[in-house]
Amino acid sequence: MQELIDKIERRAARCGVIGLGYVGLPLALEFSRVGFRVVGIDLDEGKVQAIRDGRSYIVDVSDEEIARPVREGKFSATTDFSVISELDTINICVPTPLRKTKDPDLTYVVSAVNEIRKYLRPGQLVILESTTYPGTTEEVVRPALEASGLEVGQDFCLAFSPERIDPGNPNFGTRNIPKVVGGVTARCTEVAQHLYEASVDTVVPVSSTQVAEMVKLLENTFRSVNIGLVNEIALMCSALKINVWEVIEAAKTKPFGFMAFYPGPGLGGHCIPIDPFYLSWKAKMNGFDARFIELAGHINESMPRFVVERITDALNQHRKSIRGSRIHVLGVAYKAGVNDIRESPALNVMKILADKGAVLSYTDPYIPVVREEGFELDSVPLEAARMKAVDCVVILIAHREIDYDLVVRSAPLVVDTRNALQGCDAPNVIRL
Ligand SMILES: NC(=O)c1ccc[n+]([C@@H]2O[C@H](COP(=O)([O-])OP(=O)(O)OC[C@H]3O[C@@H](n4cnc5c(N)ncnc54)[C@H](O)[C@@H]3O)[C@@H](O)[C@H]2O)c1
Repeated sequence: MQELIDKIERRAARCGVIGLGYVGLPLALEFSRVGFRVVGIDLDEGKVQAIRDGRSYIVDVSDEEIARPVREGKFSATTDFSVISELDTINICVPTPLRKTKDPDLTYVVSAVNEIRKYLRPGQLVILESTTYPGTTEEVVRPALEASGLEVGQDFCLAFSPERIDPGNPNFGTRNIPKVVGGVTARCTEVAQHLYEASVDTVVPVSSTQVAEMVKLLENTFRSVNIGLVNEIALMCSALKINVWEVIEAAKTKPFGFMAFYPGPGLGGHCIPIDPFYLSWKAKMNGFDARFIELAGHINESMPRFVVERITDALNQHRKSIRGSRIHVLGVAYKAGVNDIRESPALNVMKILADKGAVLSYTDPYIPVVREEGFELDSVPLEAARMKAVDCVVILIAHREIDYDLVVRSAPLVVDTRNALQGCDAPNVIRL
């Protein structure tokens, strides 16, 4: 393994990244930025072609950031897994969704690992980055790779390093988010640490793959539970007729012991609504009941219905029902500033409204079309005439590009679930 460390130090190692999505593409570019030759492998021919053409499909990555290393021969993309035999390091960044039953779906990880096994050779380093339950690297990845006849720690290295990227965050990216890494053996940790130290500002080694896996789940469970708590406080404030947003703004002036979380229409994205259930599933398999996770999930999942209740009450004040009302949604992405609609709570709110007979339209500068949950909607431009013509506008995601003054001036009724209209006391505005 010393040979691999030397290659990494000389930037002569050839790096591979499997799965070129929100996590894998920025990671691959970071490796190439510091001088490694990088190959990205993805099943999606569209993404591979986009990379070859120097076209980005991720908001945080510019076309030029892809085009330059591709031009310079430092970065290439393929759908052909046989390139693995030429690689020194392989990072796995494939999806880890939940099944409908909320059980972990490791299909993508297993399929990627099975491809690696076919081409695995002595001297390689394999790192799983996909978020998963503690034990996955040891119990699922290790036996699959060792079925090749090679032994971990002896012939090849295996580690887990959770990805912590926050899409749309202008301050933190792959380079300056500290990277936690835990190997199957101490040598595995050391080799993986060398790879990340080449491209990431801070590397945090831990004693095992299970600890590294658990770190990520603690982080995301912390978010899910705190969002669940603040959502419950919002429901409570609504019953007590207190402005929850004002409460949070004042509470966050405390310089210690408090961290602001905000209520909203529910959790979205590929991480927070999903990852804690990986942990509760594993806990359950070991006879442990993860009560906080289940309770937070329950509250967060109830928020779309609460938002619809607010819209119903608001329309009721105008002697209108949901059925037949024209309701315009602002923001359908799962959070502000991203072009990702996975698990977006906006879809749940829209589904409930559509089932009740609302006539829906939407504006989202990041999501031009919605073809999910039976919807066939295209984003429409935000115009005063359109705002005047609807019965209610509901702000589900507070994209910065939206002209909120125009919305408040023109729409008869605005339900704001994100405090996008902070400070505005217009009589047509109803807050969560
Ligand atoms: N998106 C985030 O903000 C974020 C943050 C931290 C961690 N994560 C975790 O990182 C992992 C990846 O998430 P993502 O958001 O990048 O997903 P993504 O869907 O954006 O990208 C995954 C890519 O993997 C490809 N893929 C699927 N199966 C494959 C296979 N067998 N071989 C090769 N390619 C395959 C898909 O085509 C896709 O391009 C997940 O475990 C997720 O929980 C995501």
